[in-house]
Amino acid sequence: MTMKLIALDGPSASGKSSTARAVAQALGWSHLDSGALYRGLTLIALEIASVRRGLIEEVAPREVVDAAEGRGLQLHSDGTTFQVYIDGLPKDGAIRTPDVTANVSWVSALPDIRMWVDTRMREMVHGGLEVVIDGRDIGSVVFPEAPLKVFLTATPEARASRRLSQRGEELDRAALKRESAMLAERDRKDSSRPVAPLRQPPDALLLDSTTLSFEEQVDRIVGWARERGLA
Ligand code: CDP
Repeated sequence: MTMKLIALDGPSASGKSSTARAVAQALGWSHLDSGALYRGLTLIALEIASVRRGLIEEVAPREVVDAAEGRGLQLHSDGTTFQVYIDGLPKDGAIRTPDVTANVSWVSALPDIRMWVDTRMREMVHGGLEVVIDGRDIGSVVFPEAPLKVFLTATPEARASRRLSQRGEELDRAALKRESAMLAERDRKDSSRPVAPLRQPPDALLLDSTTLSFEEQVDRIVGWARERGLA
């Protein structure tokens, strides 16, 4: 039986999550945002560091994973998209604070952390989930066997302006410059780490969304899924 999985990778703010959600909706599948799991683990690491009044870099990866297990870090589906729950509560707001965003690249570069996340995702997919997963290494490392891999990108300016609009912030030159620099720094860290770096898999289809409308980019991926007999 064909595995029902679309791996959607790409740099920060390329629109992966919203695109993945819309593609999943169009196909009647689920959407899993792997970045949300890394953000949940980063939130836990920050909380451990704060209780100790120490630095996040001083928290051992194993402690983060044990705390995640102990506090029941899980993904719950609302029908289409999986949300991160910790201690039985949804954490979508808490995992998207500037503090978590500033620390997530560091936490997600730790091999024990990646192994924990990869295992959770593989269990879900091998359990028969039909899913669009977005991230950085989904097609290259976690599911190299995915029947459709898409690498979504856009120019740094387009990505920065989308991120600012998403947050309802002004699109002036200074704000755009600041946001572009922050995205570039996260991309640099994500691309240069030794473990599972952000990279376009050779068999992924490249989708540059700079000049495409949201509907066009979703339609393109749904079309590819149909061509490959996934839907
Ligand atoms: O802010 P944005 O939506 O672009 O990022 P995200 O998808 O929420 O991912 C947050 C961070 O998690 C990324 O900057 C990566 O450091 C890390 N990540 C990863 O290493 N591997 C993945 N498969 C997904 C995210």
